Amino acid sequence: MKKISNTQFNVKNVGETVELYGWASKIRKLGNLIFIDLRDRSGIIQLVVNSDNANYEKALEIKNEYVLKVNGTIVKRSNPNTEIPTGEIEIDVTNLEILNTSMPLPFDIKSDNVSEELRLKYRYLDLRKEELQSYLITRHKITQSVRKYLDNLGFVEVETPILTATSPEGARDYLVPSRIQKGTFYALPQSPQLFKQLLMVAGFEKYYQIARCFRDEDLRADRQPEFTQIDIEMSFVNEEDIFGVVEGMFKEVMKNVKNIDLEIPFRRMTYADAINNYGTDKPDTRFDMLISDITNILHENKLSLLQKDFIGAIVAKKSDAMFSRKKVDELAIDLKNYKIDNLFFVKYNNEFTGNIANSLSDNEKDSIKNYLGLEDGDIVFIIAGDKNRVLQALGALRINVARYLDIIPKDKFNFLWITDFPMFEWSEEENRYVSAHHPFTMPKDVNALDDPENCYARSYDIVLNGYELASGSIRIHDKNIQSKVFEKLGISEEEAQRKFGYLLEAFKYGAPPHGGIAPGLDRITMILCGTDNIKDVVAFPKTQSASCLMTNAPSKANDKQLKELGIKF
Ligand code: AMO
Repeated sequence: MKKISNTQFNVKNVGETVELYGWASKIRKLGNLIFIDLRDRSGIIQLVVNSDNANYEKALEIKNEYVLKVNGTIVKRSNPNTEIPTGEIEIDVTNLEILNTSMPLPFDIKSDNVSEELRLKYRYLDLRKEELQSYLITRHKITQSVRKYLDNLGFVEVETPILTATSPEGARDYLVPSRIQKGTFYALPQSPQLFKQLLMVAGFEKYYQIARCFRDEDLRADRQPEFTQIDIEMSFVNEEDIFGVVEGMFKEVMKNVKNIDLEIPFRRMTYADAINNYGTDKPDTRFDMLISDITNILHENKLSLLQKDFIGAIVAKKSDAMFSRKKVDELAIDLKNYKIDNLFFVKYNNEFTGNIANSLSDNEKDSIKNYLGLEDGDIVFIIAGDKNRVLQALGALRINVARYLDIIPKDKFNFLWITDFPMFEWSEEENRYVSAHHPFTMPKDVNALDDPENCYARSYDIVLNGYELASGSIRIHDKNIQSKVFEKLGISEEEAQRKFGYLLEAFKYGAPPHGGIAPGLDRITMILCGTDNIKDVVAFPKTQSASCLMTNAPSKANDKQLKELGIKF
């Protein structure tokens, strides 16, 4: 029987002859028997060779990770292994061929105790692990579902340039020097944003691309310098049309990949509600512990440390015993990142204890108890200070407390739309307003552009379990509105022309109303695989310092190359 995968065979195939290929994953010699676990992408099947077998001498030569071709008969095992799908059978080997040998591996691929550095240097060996292979296969299933779904809806997949000009996402560009036009540079695309808008001007109406994007920015556990977006753009649509297409897409993906019937439409939350209740625009809604504003309750408190603009609180229900002073101090250390020096807490057990319990008047105690609905065993964490900072800090604390209490359900997938984003954000660094999304986002009300603090955008995010999964917006297709937005962003006409002139030019020739979105493929895969490290779902990822330990990229160019490019250091 022709092999498709090792694990296609089971006890029903006993007596059949097969030809198998794979790697020697484990070898055991027991008396006059040699057992070899033969591994391929699908899993393991056991080979057995006894000392009477003509292949016995050759079997003795086999070491871990040798590449084998095997012919044999499927037989029933006398002592089955219930842990693996092929555990009831083994292969009685009739012919054994060593297709290639292997040096001892630089690390044990079955061990969990190997440094990430070593694993990344030999990524192709690490990728032999079932777990990592399953992540890449999940990624493949997601892209296949997406392609099929969007194709059915009449979307056209179009590739856009990688060697291009700067794009507007606001990170640093990766630049590629031109040899032919010395002193000039291509930028790698931070996203296909402008090209997809031009495809709308060109009349494609429904575009998508599984698009590679490049951003030179500080890396985190959910960021890679090159990553992939499911980039989507549509003409003649409003937010509801885009939401519908994307919800349907994720429903299909969740069904095909996780066999989960995702409820649609997704829940929606305004940006303001997200910030006020969760302290972040990417709330993890798998658990509650919402932020409460208790400024009014404590504003007359005698403690000077509480006499601040804003006082917020979160309540961890029925868990006061879990929080020693030491634990609270540990939680407080993280808050230093948000420039918060004091974490206050009170525990309620018919009476109040905790580091500010003595400073609370009876009235304040009653109000806190009633307002927060306290029950015996609850602990309240309280932070006072600048409102934005306190909300952010409580948002981070909420996650840390929930992780510590292990109350975040792992099998929930809470897709959530965040809407009503502000159009502009004040940048301390640049001392000007910058786009909260990007400068091609349509404002909700064009007249509000003159009041940047109260101007909202027709943009939206999808958040899943605390991660920003996708961003998108209805775009500006009117050149006058676009000019006005540039003006508000302090982008001069000259700069706009230089950077995005081709788009502005295109808008003169019948640009249709359009909008779109771009879910991050790496992040979706990461969440569906249940890992919190984006490197796990990228075949050949980069480290925190944006290098590839396997290829040694980035590396120095030689003198000849530099000369050709006209570059001198
Ligand atoms: P944005 O910049 O928000 O929007 O990116 C969209 C999504 O791409 C993913 N993403 C990343 N994933 C891994 N590593 C990174 N460094 C990284 N940066 C972004 C996230 C994010 O939500 N052109 C617009 C989209 C549009 O308006 O249509 C854009 O790129 O999942």
